[in-house]
Amino acid sequence: LSPTDFSRTLIRWYHRHHRDLPWRHTTDPYKIWLSEIILQQTRVVQGLPYYLRFVEQYPTVFDLARADEQEVLRLWQGLGYYSRARNMHRTARQVVDEYGGNFPPTYAQLLELKGIGQYTAAAIASFAFGEAVPAVDGNVYRVLARIFGIKTDILSSPAKKEFTAVARQLIPADDPATFNQAMIEFGAIQCQPVAPDCLLCPFNQHCYAFQHGAQARLPVKARK
Ligand code: ADE
Repeated sequence: LSPTDFSRTLIRWYHRHHRDLPWRHTTDPYKIWLSEIILQQTRVVQGLPYYLRFVEQYPTVFDLARADEQEVLRLWQGLGYYSRARNMHRTARQVVDEYGGNFPPTYAQLLELKGIGQYTAAAIASFAFGEAVPAVDGNVYRVLARIFGIKTDILSSPAKKEFTAVARQLIPADDPATFNQAMIEFGAIQCQPVAPDCLLCPFNQHCYAFQHGAQARLPVKARK
């Protein structure tokens, strides 16, 4: 399976099956950032109403930056991990104070913001600015581990580098945003953790896990 065949097949699957989600209709880096922070440890169905409320209450990074912290925490209520809300508020202030309210437009610069890690920087850089950097989260580990038979323990320290390197080989320069959305979506609704829908999967003939009956063993997650 060449990188081009992989990405074409993935993107064709995406066009047929993806969910219509509001953050997929914007290239506003602020809204994309907001959605990714909310979705970090939260399922789409749970995070969606919060995303809509935040966007309504704070339509721009300026609105969020000048909001009262207690009010932000109140709007966050029910999502848990309250440090996420506090860090989000702090990052909004940093974007306003140090960048005049504009998220910087490259992966490398986004990484320098407080509370923005590799995954979130790559998501914003690709979805908002079209930069060809892979956004590698748990969904993407699972998809790559199964299709390509990668047995690296996803909890080990070299995992992020290895999986990111594989994804970098696959991401197409002409449409990195759709590729990244498609990888996330494919992991979420097709290549699910338990009982993946392999019979209807467009990769089943090329998938290491399906060919070896190894879906339950991949990705490898060693117990700590
Ligand atoms: N989880 C994390 N990012 C996501 C996105 N952009 N779409 C759907 N689910 C996600």
